[in-house]
Amino acid sequence: MEVKSQARKHSWAEPYKMKMVELLKMTTHEERVNAIREAGYNTFLLRSRDVYIDLLTDSGTSAMSDHQWAGMMMGDESYAGSENFYHLEKTVQECYGYKYVIPTHQGRGAENIISKIMIQPGDIIPGNMYFTTTRLHQELAGGTFEDVIIDEAHDSKNLHPFKGNIDLNKLDALIKKYGAKKIPYVSVATAVNMAGGQPISIANLKAVRALTEKHGIKIIHDMTRVAENAWFVKQRETGYENKSVTEIVKEICSLTDGATMSAKKDALVNIGGFMAMNDKSLYEEASNMVVVYEGLHTYGGLAGRDMEAMSIGIRESLSDDHIRARIGQVEYLGHKMMAAGIPIVQPIGGHGIFVDAKEFLPHISQNKFPAQTLAAEIYIDSGVRSMERGIVSAGRNKETGEHYFPELELVRLTIPRRVYTQAHMDVVSESVEEVFLNRKNIKGLNLNFEPKYLRFFQARFEPLH
Ligand code: F0G
Repeated sequence: MEVKSQARKHSWAEPYKMKMVELLKMTTHEERVNAIREAGYNTFLLRSRDVYIDLLTDSGTSAMSDHQWAGMMMGDESYAGSENFYHLEKTVQECYGYKYVIPTHQGRGAENIISKIMIQPGDIIPGNMYFTTTRLHQELAGGTFEDVIIDEAHDSKNLHPFKGNIDLNKLDALIKKYGAKKIPYVSVATAVNMAGGQPISIANLKAVRALTEKHGIKIIHDMTRVAENAWFVKQRETGYENKSVTEIVKEICSLTDGATMSAKKDALVNIGGFMAMNDKSLYEEASNMVVVYEGLHTYGGLAGRDMEAMSIGIRESLSDDHIRARIGQVEYLGHKMMAAGIPIVQPIGGHGIFVDAKEFLPHISQNKFPAQTLAAEIYIDSGVRSMERGIVSAGRNKETGEHYFPELELVRLTIPRRVYTQAHMDVVSESVEEVFLNRKNIKGLNLNFEPKYLRFFQARFEPLH
């Protein structure tokens, strides 16, 4: 009998199996109502023991592999010149292509140092949408961040395949307005977090490179989720279908001058980061500054074992099978929620599902914190912890003291890598659906405590009646 050949569907099923599990506590509705009240209706202030499925962040929450754990036992805890540092340096050079690397305790440690070295008071830093810690370090160094992402990124329904792209006209206008001397670098993020994990295309990055080179402006790459960006390039950009994630990542990095990395995301570790660059004098300044804030340039605030786990994690993170499963799981959850009519940011991004709280709760105005409210309601319903990414995260204008009112008012359900199962994703979707059915009864929140920096972490709220 003749068997007709069929194009075989490639499932996103995980390329690993479980060897150890962590038991979770199931809570009652009453326990959760009390827990969120005590947390001031801020999911950052919940105790993790009161959380069932923790989708607060994909940062430092991934499961390490047996190889990474084995690497932890190979820690060379020498103060200077640890063998693990040289493994990390070699991995960064081989996988990302940057010449010099300096470890830091996490991403913001690198952002602090790069901002302090490169930014002068009064400088302008254009970028493809702000990130909370990145912008704050730019501001603390005396700079002002200017958003030059394409307009489509601010519209949760727009289906542009590369919503992380930079609008070249906006960037060009800024260079004309302020002059290239006032712009030390363009801050280019891959898989733009605050836009919903949206990728930048290589074509766009090349065009940004051409424009900035003409003016002698550098590009500093926030490469926290570069592998996820590369997967979308492979899926969506002509000419990249047959390239591997490893090759695409290297090409992206080659179009930039340096990078800051939070290895707690893509690179599959619970703690760690680094900065990397090609310019020797920038490296020398950074390796001098790192001893002030983080530690010697061969450990930067990390244990040797952390650097070993990171260098193994970086290599694992670049496997096509790994990324297919990682993003496949995010897409599984997103499609399920869309089928239930939940308004989410589209296209589905790389690291989580972003629920459009403005559309979910149209009766709650933005100054009553709809996304903050929705995150608290989802927690009360099921013990699923998510995070606000809207007006609370955006903070206040440093000149006027007014709230920023971002277009996107989102709740982020962020998926840790290699941690939860498809059944967990079903529970998450069912819980959001339940809250959606009862949305008319939900009221907003009042902000009653606000810290000075990065207020979303520690702000407290009370319910409006
Ligand atoms: N850049 C991006 C794009 C990030 O998402 C983060 C952290 C950082 C820099 C800072 O790195 O936390 O290691 O100091 N994002 C986490 C999140 C906190 O939940 O999105 P870090």
